[in-house]
Amino acid sequence: MKQHPVRHLISLDDLADADLREVVERGAQYASGGVGRPLEGLVAGIYFVKTSTRTRTAFSTAMLRLGGAIVGYGPGDLQTNTGETNEDSGRVLSRMLDLLVARTAGDPAEMRQWARQSRMAVVNAMSADEHPTQALADLTTLTLHFGKVEGLRLLYVGEGNNTAAALALALSRYPGVELYLRTPPGYGLSASVLERSRRQGARSGAVVLERHDMDATALPKDVDAIYTTRWQTTGTAKPDPNWRHVFAPFQVTEALWEHSPRAVFLHDLPAHRGEEVTEGVLDGPLSIAFDQAENKLHSAMAVLEWCRADRWQGAGSGEVPSPARAGRT
Ligand code: CP
Repeated sequence: MKQHPVRHLISLDDLADADLREVVERGAQYASGGVGRPLEGLVAGIYFVKTSTRTRTAFSTAMLRLGGAIVGYGPGDLQTNTGETNEDSGRVLSRMLDLLVARTAGDPAEMRQWARQSRMAVVNAMSADEHPTQALADLTTLTLHFGKVEGLRLLYVGEGNNTAAALALALSRYPGVELYLRTPPGYGLSASVLERSRRQGARSGAVVLERHDMDATALPKDVDAIYTTRWQTTGTAKPDPNWRHVFAPFQVTEALWEHSPRAVFLHDLPAHRGEEVTEGVLDGPLSIAFDQAENKLHSAMAVLEWCRADRWQGAGSGEVPSPARAGRT
């Protein structure tokens, strides 16, 4: 079998700054149509050991729309369940598949075991520590709405989970970005993610600031976007039986818009209405959460194309659509 250059996307660390911008812009281009069939003749395995509505459908549909084919695996399907190692499974699948999109129960290190071969690109569709393709969809959404990511100011409220981690690791690459996180005590970003985000921010000019309270006098004013995620991240359980009490002050309500009246609302979904967000916010006029969900498809198309360097056309050849609404200067 002839080998082709593959690029794994297991962490945002796998994308150089220029790659990150290109993938985000390419996703925004796909949102405006004009698809083509750059992945014609390729086959992707879609392997999800955890539930998914958006990500699994986005990557499956993206592969089909780009001219490729898919093979789907559920949690009990592969021989890893009977003791075959991830490395051996990856070596075998790489002789038949061109890409593998995987949602696992483990950390990115487990995903790297699948990637110990050079024939099949591996994409992290969410691991315990990081949800990199969610961040790419989020930045695509911001690009489509504001026309840019640079200089945006965001308030993230909720658990410092894998979505928050990926958001911090992506946004901290963009000059002038200010990301304010309000995470419940004991449920913040990991020290590693904070340190990496701050190191990137020192290089790019972005700021990532985390607090563990909802003191109204300390909330940033005039932010461009307010973002939350559900309190119970897929497949994780909280050992503290009183965790809801700790999370309660971090619900996103209409009151957060008092000092940021133009902020759009983002949510990676699925939402638990009345828990992390009120129904009025999620369905309100400033919510772009369902556009954000659609952008997972456009962004997945860009990710799959990027993973095959020989098929990658980049974002330079096309226009990024005009912003849906003028952003801040
Ligand atoms: N946001 C997200 O990852 O959604 P799914 O769990 O439905 O894929």
